Amino acid sequence: MVAGTGPHTTVIAGDLFAAQAGAGLTPPLWAPDCWGEEDQAVLVCRKVLEITHDVKSFHFEAEGHRAFSFDPGQFITLQLEIDGAAFSRCYTISSPPTRPHLISITVKRVPGGPVSNWLHDHVGPGTRITAQAPLGGFTLTGPPGPRYLFLSAGSGITPVMSMTRTLYDLGSDADVLFVHSARTPADIIFRRELEAIAAVMPNIRVVHVCEDDYPSERWMGLRGRLSTAMLQALVPDLEERETYTCGPAGYMASIRAMLGEVGYDMRRYHEESFSFESLPALAVPPSVHCGRGTTLPDGAEGDHTPSPDEEAGAPTTYSVEFVRSGLTVTCAADENLLDAAYTAGLRPPASCTQGMCGTCKTTMLSGEVDMQHNGGIRPREVAQNKILICCSKPLSDVRIDA
Ligand code: FES
Repeated sequence: MVAGTGPHTTVIAGDLFAAQAGAGLTPPLWAPDCWGEEDQAVLVCRKVLEITHDVKSFHFEAEGHRAFSFDPGQFITLQLEIDGAAFSRCYTISSPPTRPHLISITVKRVPGGPVSNWLHDHVGPGTRITAQAPLGGFTLTGPPGPRYLFLSAGSGITPVMSMTRTLYDLGSDADVLFVHSARTPADIIFRRELEAIAAVMPNIRVVHVCEDDYPSERWMGLRGRLSTAMLQALVPDLEERETYTCGPAGYMASIRAMLGEVGYDMRRYHEESFSFESLPALAVPPSVHCGRGTTLPDGAEGDHTPSPDEEAGAPTTYSVEFVRSGLTVTCAADENLLDAAYTAGLRPPASCTQGMCGTCKTTMLSGEVDMQHNGGIRPREVAQNKILICCSKPLSDVRIDA
């Protein structure tokens, strides 16, 4: 039992929260609507923890004494200025929403990576960072399923760690098999915490697979890369499990191939990657036809009338006016607005270029676009004529607030 002590009092944790609430100290939830007009907020670093030799967890609190609201598996986008250059980077939240007073990201130092190295070398208690509100559809939705299979590799562990911590905190009865792949035993992120969870929650089993020994530790567990034979031996009830996978693109491709080989029902498969170069195409990407004052539901047919150029077979182009920049560019009907902006020399903010992170979000003042996003925009924002220009193609001349 956790106890808080003062000079004359000893208060157990539950009473402490009750006492805080009674004294008006319980922070209000930091719901998405509280992130302000631009869905942004300032995070203040509270603590940095060394997780492995090249991985740190950064714990942030919300400026203004607020608590966080998000779904396990979602990510936040940090807006950073490093040596005069602007960077926008997505990091999955590794903490669970059941511990709402801090939000954590867990970052592996990438050789030569400007952002991960800056975070490792410069962020400490008191550092203030601007972040965009949590986003992402890679999350446990609805009531906990009876059986989950979590598959992760390297720092891809973070979203499934948030899910595992959430299920642990809620005392869930869900049957979880968590298989994590690492290079060596020294590279296993959250190793001791996962072992501690598995030790007290028999319904959560954890298996590590390492490719090699570490100089100071010979690996006695499963060795090599996860294979179909390993998967079948570890998960005889695979068909009964909902699978969540996160890791490098090559790892996830091999998982998809293995699951295909054993005839797994891929409707039960979920994956996440921030390796933006090689995101797999979604089977049914969210498609939104946006027009000033008209928003069609996913899958609805648009009301686009073919232009004379289209009817004549010529490539169709439209004009795109970046109103604040005072520039109008030509954009082909099969070109994203972001590409057209870059071709014209504009540099609007962008990060993932896959409709995931929300960095390129802006308001469409007039016109129509076909937006094929990956969860980087909320329905209420679409209703407000916000668009992600990295994944929006023009259906007419367009004016945007950028
Ligand atoms: Fe990430 Fe457009 S750059 S959603």
